[in-house]
This record gives sequence, C-alpha cells and structure tokens, in this order.
Amino acid sequence: MGALRRARHPIEAEWIVWLPGLVSGLNVAARAVGEAQDAVFTATPVYPPFLSAPRHAGRPLLTVPLVKGAQRWEWDFAAAEAALLRQKAKLFLLCHPHNPVGRLWDEAELAQLAKLARRHDLIVCSDEIHNGLILSPLHQHRLFATFAPGLAERTITLMAPSKTFNIPGLGAAFAVIPEAGLRQRFRRAMAGIVPQPNLLGMAALEAAFIACDDWQAALLDYLRGNAARVEAAVAQIPGLSMHPVEATYLAWIDARELAAGHGIDDLSRHFEAHGLGLSDGAAFGMSGFVRLNFGTRRALLDEALRRLAAACG
Ligand SMILES: Cc1ncc(COP(=O)(O)O)c(C=O)c1O
Repeated sequence: MGALRRARHPIEAEWIVWLPGLVSGLNVAARAVGEAQDAVFTATPVYPPFLSAPRHAGRPLLTVPLVKGAQRWEWDFAAAEAALLRQKAKLFLLCHPHNPVGRLWDEAELAQLAKLARRHDLIVCSDEIHNGLILSPLHQHRLFATFAPGLAERTITLMAPSKTFNIPGLGAAFAVIPEAGLRQRFRRAMAGIVPQPNLLGMAALEAAFIACDDWQAALLDYLRGNAARVEAAVAQIPGLSMHPVEATYLAWIDARELAAGHGIDDLSRHFEAHGLGLSDGAAFGMSGFVRLNFGTRRALLDEALRRLAAACG
C-alpha cells in the first residue's frame, strides 16, 4: 500500500488500533467522540454507514450536500461553515477518497477541510479504505492527517487492505490515532464489543502491504480500462451523466433526467427489471443517482453496460 509507506510522517506502532472492519471503526468513532447531544457531521452522498453510525450511537446527524460542479463533485464550504455554526458537532466523518463520487480530494480542498476542522474543533474520522485505488495518473493519495501541523492530533484514520486487495472476508482493518487521549476513548468504546482481527487476516494484510505492489499496479491498469469503458458508455446514453472517476471502482451516475423523462420513481427497481443491480442513491442521501461497481471482469462489465443502455432506451 504505497500511501502508507510514502506517508510523510511515520506511523508509530502504538498509534494503531486493530479492527475487524472499517464500518466497526466508524461506529466506534461515533460513540467515542463527543457527548450525546453533539452532532456528527458529514457530506452527502456518502457510503450509507456514515449516515447510520450516528443514529446507532444516539447522536444527531448533520449533513451538507456535495455539489455537482461542471467538471467534478465539490464541497460547498460556505454551506458546511453555516451548518456547523447552526449546530454544534464534535465528529466529522470524512471519506477520502470518496465513495460514491470517486473524488480524491485535492490539496486545496483538504487544506480547507483541515481549517474547517480546526475552526469548529472537530475530531476528523477519515475513512481512507480506497487509498490504494487511485485511478487518475495525475494524482497521489496523501493521508489527511499529514496535511497540516497539529491535524494528526485531531484525526482518526481508518484503513484496510480489504478494498484494494479484495479481502474484506478476512476482516483485517485498523485505525491510526496518534493522540493518546483520543486513542484511549476509542479503545474504551470498543471494549467487550469489537473483536480482534483474526490471524489469517493479519497475515493477508502484511502480504498485501509488503509484497503485492506489482499485483496492485496491474489491478489499477485494469480498473482504468474499466472506468474508461463506463465513462464512454454513460456519455452515449441520453438521460445519464457522470464525472470521471479519480479513485475507487465506483461510478456515481446522475439519472435524474432519465427518471424525470420516463416517470421512474424507483431507479434501482427499474434497473433490476433490466437485469442490473445498481445501488440506489437514496441510501447515500441523494436520490436520483445510482452507483455502479465496475470492479469486475471486463466481459461482465460489458454485459452490464449493454443492459444499462437497454434500460434507458
Ligand atoms: C468508504 C468505505 N468504508 C468502509 C467500507 C467497508 O469496510 P469494512 O468491510 O471493512 O467494514 C467500504 C466498503 O464498501 C467503503 O466503501
């Protein structure tokens, strides 16, 4: 996992808290940070457990929508600022790179997010599970925590080899928490509930991070080809649009025009009727969109894209 080895600040062994999965980490963070009345802040659309973790922890959820710009999805910093002034939040759940919009937040955006966290005294739980899946050759992943002086002390970084190396079933993930008090609160919230990862998972994690760079490079080449196919296919289909995928193997497809034009009120049911299983945007906090996972073999993807076009005809 290049980003970990390239991290500008070395990670101390004692900062690491082992987890059986990242979703556990999101839920532990929601319980460990702040008091019951403190909101958990995030931006939609987002991976559904970001929206359910605050509820499970009995905390209010505070969201702002990301904005579909002309070239890419973007933060609405003014809206974020206003929301955080309106309601007190203590925890910020950040997805970097972002599932589902496929952005690798750039340096200017990360600097703004770091400022936002400092200004509103937020602890940032940065889910970086997709950090090994950077498709854009122009970009490199950089750990959010390393972005500004003092930021690591207010950051919980969540990582795992499970996405890049397709081993979620082995249940090996971890949190990096440099600040001792925060780490202790996180561990306390886990106590008696969250199991340790298993030995097989740890062996797989070690092998993935140390000995699989060539496999990862080949994977990225393949995924770049898949992303290009999806982007080209979507561009040809009236009623659908998407921005290029910078990272992840997920395409976030805007189907609002299709839905309006064809009177479709349940997009995922519509696509399922055409033999295509897409994730519905509603679960991510943004209706009118669907998420297509293109982390698959090309023949299967080509068939999926054929069905996508047929479902929109
Ligand atoms: C952003 C993000 N976080 C976490 C996970 C899942 O993590 P785990 O399987 O380790 O609980 C996913 C899987 O899709 C994801 O996209």
